[in-house]
Amino acid sequence: MSSPSLPGGTWTLGDLPVSRFGYGAMQLAGPGVMGPPADRDAALAVLREVRDLGITHIDTAGAYGPRFTNRLIREALHPYPEALHIATKVGADRDPQGGWPPAREPEALRRAVHENLEDLGLEVLDLVNLRLGDAQGPRPGSLAAPFEALVELQDQGLIRHLGVSNATAEQVAEARAIAPIVCVQNLYNLAHRQDDELIDELAEQGIAYVPFFPLGGFSPLQSSALAAVADRLGRSPMSVALAWLLQRSPNILLIPGTSSAAHLHENVAGAALRLSPDDLAELDTIGRR
Ligand SMILES: NC(=O)c1ccc[n+]([C@@H]2O[C@H](COP(=O)([O-])OP(=O)(O)OC[C@H]3O[C@@H](n4cnc5c(N)ncnc54)[C@H](OP(=O)(O)O)[C@@H]3O)[C@@H](O)[C@H]2O)c1
Repeated sequence: MSSPSLPGGTWTLGDLPVSRFGYGAMQLAGPGVMGPPADRDAALAVLREVRDLGITHIDTAGAYGPRFTNRLIREALHPYPEALHIATKVGADRDPQGGWPPAREPEALRRAVHENLEDLGLEVLDLVNLRLGDAQGPRPGSLAAPFEALVELQDQGLIRHLGVSNATAEQVAEARAIAPIVCVQNLYNLAHRQDDELIDELAEQGIAYVPFFPLGGFSPLQSSALAAVADRLGRSPMSVALAWLLQRSPNILLIPGTSSAAHLHENVAGAALRLSPDDLAELDTIGRR
């Protein structure tokens, strides 16, 4: 069960209730998101802490490691609590240099879905996001062929719900014209507000928006306005950044990443911060286009 003490309450992804405070598993793999974690026991402990805190939404991808992160999740948490839902992503591969080349041919997507099932020890994946674009961000162009390949796998009973990631607003609309989606997972945080309009539209449609890099990703969020609000409140900039996302819109689900149980606890406590209208107005100056 999702813990009532988690900030943000719950959201329903399709028919799956999840805690709005979720967990992003990307940071568990080795350096550059390649290979096993430096400290395997610590990584397993973080995942068990996620479960014990009542977090019921974990975001992962077969490309993390690759495959190592999904296998860690299985080792730490299988058999999974009934309330826990794991979202994964397909559409990108890894090359020996640690790059993320697209892998969106139907055959590559089928293979990725089957690998996710095997590595996570599941018969059905709760949520599969089609990852579009590249490491630089979304790219325009039709998603019909890869998205239809995933719809076919959904029709075969291997996937419960679909989403898109690293997508343009046009691609989100194109996906929705083909089949229902329950979420969009894009880069968004206090300093990157390019999806403001999309978030509001999705909220009206009951579709979740899951910001990746909520804390800035590989380079922590830096802004004098953020630092000023954090100082005034006596909290960390990370707490303010997470609390701001939860207050930004009810359809925003958090998946901050960490390889540290202490940071996980800090983030849960930090996200519970209530920002005043004045704080929000000051923070609103940071990333507006
Ligand atoms: N769809 C996509 O294309 C895509 C792309 C990137 C990420 N994602 C997903 O989004 C999730 C979140 O993104 P992310 O993990 O890359 O970035 P993030 O959540 O913005 O930031 C994670 C970074 O912040 C650090 N951190 C977290 N809490 C902290 C704290 N309390 N104090 C100090 N440092 C802290 C982590 O280091 P420590 O490990 O030391 O805590 C890590 O370096 C990923 O895990 C992944 O599931 C999706």
